[in-house]
Amino acid sequence: MPETSNLIVRPPAFVYRKASKTMQLHCEKEPLAKVAARFGTPAYVYSAQTLHSRFEALDKAFKNADHTICYSVKANSNLTLLRLLHKLGSGFDVVSGGELERVLRVGKRAAQNTVFSGVGKTADEMDAALRAGILMFNLESESEMRLLAGRAGRAKKKAPVAFRVNPDVVAETHPYISTGLREHKFGVPMAEALRLYSAAAEQRWLDVRGISVHIGSQITSVQPFAAALGRVADLARELLGRGHKIRYIDAGGGLGIPYNHGQEDLSATANAYAQSLLRSLHDLDVHLLLEPGRSIVGPAGVLLTRVLYLKRNGEKRFAVVDAAMNDLLRPSLYNAYHQIVPVERRDDDGLAKTDIVGPICETGDFFARDREMPALQEGDLLAILDTGAYGMSLASNYNSRPRPVELLVDGKKVKVVRKKESVKDLLALEV
Ligand code: LLP
Repeated sequence: MPETSNLIVRPPAFVYRKASKTMQLHCEKEPLAKVAARFGTPAYVYSAQTLHSRFEALDKAFKNADHTICYSVKANSNLTLLRLLHKLGSGFDVVSGGELERVLRVGKRAAQNTVFSGVGKTADEMDAALRAGILMFNLESESEMRLLAGRAGRAKKKAPVAFRVNPDVVAETHPYISTGLREHKFGVPMAEALRLYSAAAEQRWLDVRGISVHIGSQITSVQPFAAALGRVADLARELLGRGHKIRYIDAGGGLGIPYNHGQEDLSATANAYAQSLLRSLHDLDVHLLLEPGRSIVGPAGVLLTRVLYLKRNGEKRFAVVDAAMNDLLRPSLYNAYHQIVPVERRDDDGLAKTDIVGPICETGDFFARDREMPALQEGDLLAILDTGAYGMSLASNYNSRPRPVELLVDGKKVKVVRKKESVKDLLALEV
């Protein structure tokens, strides 16, 4: 039998409990085997309680500062999850007209706490955000500023703006998701910021409100955040000295999660994160905006999948499962590590090195390679952990595979929050 320390897979929701002689992985009060039997696999399963407690832990860490959490919609844009976060008091960070539309569906007032980020906003997207009355546009170039000033003039509505500055700090993370270096496409160089703020202040239809920064994602040390905010705070002082009304500092997202072991004291991490940001702001009278995505939803979700076939090619063992890279791209795209655990733990479980792979015709379609796994049988259910963030939101229809169902568990209640797609859905737009 497994040791007790292994029974809590991801607190508070994903826990093994004894059921009919074996240990069964649950999401809150619901056995995942039951969920799979009822809704099929692959399936994304989210825990409402985890979402709730993670949002609260982050929010609480900043309780002494004037702040708003603007949850980053790209991490998981399911409407039910957005609604839940909205109820908890979250604002939103959006990067497209589509994400903005989702926020508007959640509540008319949600736009007031929404920031619009991204290097390539189109005129249509700007118009929609102006109509919605968002909190702030995070501008990333001079050309974008001029386009927005024009659109705001046409709409006769002042556009609230910040520039996203590039602080040129190293964030130790995967190169694809590091954004705060000079060589990256993001933000405007610090050295040009003063000139751009002056140019923006001269625009009748722009209302300069703040400064924003985002240095990357899955950052597990607080030092880079502190360094970036230090530079942003210096810029804020300089701009305030020159008469600009800097009321908001948007610190972006990026706080990482421990994918490898899942052991985490979230309130301690959140407190250290909060201190690293707030230290630089102590003498500034500003409202802090935060754009966390992964740190809120990542550990709140698992991808349930069933073993279709076991096979051996020489020395190698493979478990072919019914989920694939189209459902969860992170291992293929970033070589990302996700813990994979059996939904049912049996007594006789010896470990064997196994590749967990999907059915797609690409060698890159894998979830784990040479992973020590308990002896698997065909038909076994597996849970791929920490897939609440950038799981479904990065899913595609590659190989004409319908995207999986999304389920939200709240205590004993299981709700479909997005239906499984059908092949008919996939074909609907084709002529
Ligand atoms: N704000 C901005 C401007 C961003 O670009 C991002 C993420 C966030 C906030 C939220 O970052 P978070 O707190 O979730 O780290 N697909 C990758 C992650 C890409 C992140 C892109 N930007 C992955 O699966 O790891």
